[in-house]
Amino acid sequence: MNILITGCNGQLGNEMRVLSASHPKHTYFFTDIPELDITDSKAVKSFVTTNAIDLIVNCAAYTNVDKAEEDEATALKINANALSVLGSQGVRVLHVSTDYVFSGDEHLPCRETDPVAPRTVYGTTKLRGEKMLLAECPDAVILRTAWLYSSFGNNFVKTMIRLGKEKKELGVVFDQIGTPTYAADLAWAIFTVIESKVWRPGIYHFTNEGVCSWYDFTLAIHELAGIDQCHVHPILSEEYAYKTPRPHYSVLDKTKFKKTFDVSIPHWLDGLRRCMKQLTVSD
Ligand SMILES: NC(=O)c1ccc[n+]([C@@H]2O[C@H](COP(=O)([O-])OP(=O)(O)OC[C@H]3O[C@@H](n4cnc5c(N)ncnc54)[C@H](OP(=O)(O)O)[C@@H]3O)[C@@H](O)[C@H]2O)c1
Repeated sequence: MNILITGCNGQLGNEMRVLSASHPKHTYFFTDIPELDITDSKAVKSFVTTNAIDLIVNCAAYTNVDKAEEDEATALKINANALSVLGSQGVRVLHVSTDYVFSGDEHLPCRETDPVAPRTVYGTTKLRGEKMLLAECPDAVILRTAWLYSSFGNNFVKTMIRLGKEKKELGVVFDQIGTPTYAADLAWAIFTVIESKVWRPGIYHFTNEGVCSWYDFTLAIHELAGIDQCHVHPILSEEYAYKTPRPHYSVLDKTKFKKTFDVSIPHWLDGLRRCMKQLTVSD
């Protein structure tokens, strides 16, 4: 297959590039804004036609949750309208969405069929993108994920390592529960879908296994990074000056993905250990 990967300079896009080396039978076209802006419908059409693309894996997105509140128009363009463009090319599309389509008020892991109720501009635009994609391309695959981190790009893991080295004390919220997800494992999930004998359209949830709070996650990061001079203490969300509301419970139920593709998923701590090894290598 000729596979177009958009947003390749992001966390997931970079992990897709790394993993693509283990799947050499395909030809990959890695693009980010300079090579292909997904909001430019003419450019997308021309790229797909010229390169005889069979599958688009969309890793591009407007992911800054706080900035999206002030710049709804741009978030809408990239997270929603562009999905109509990608979906109307007459080729398969694998898209990535988010736990932010849910309210985060539940106390049980969310299934794909559960009611959506985004509380942020980011979540609202991502949900609209899902709908716009499925309207144009009903056999698309959408993987909803959460709490992504990687050795590439800026993310929570890198921030906590930096703060742990700089500060003697750190308050981290313990009333937001979710599942940290190593972007390399999400890339593996994407290849699991691509390499499956049969294309199985639909929405799936994919994160690593297990749950924790940001506080627990930070303790694990510091332990693995050998940071012991910083005291981390749990705080409530209301004690942290969030600009945008954050879901209190955003655990995704991955049963459908595991059953459909007959796989088991690594625990988040296992993913974190592998990511930390990569960080050490690249440091
Ligand atoms: N990060 C998370 O915690 C998280 C959680 C749940 C779901 N997700 C979803 O997972 C997917 C991957 O996230 P990620 O963390 O890898 O995102 P990321 O690191 O922010 O990467 C997104 C990439 O897309 C690029 N991009 C933005 N607008 C574009 C456009 N118009 N055309 C082409 N490329 C464009 C970005 O460039 P610039 O950086 O220059 O804008 C960036 O390189 C996204 O769909 C995201 O919504 C992420």
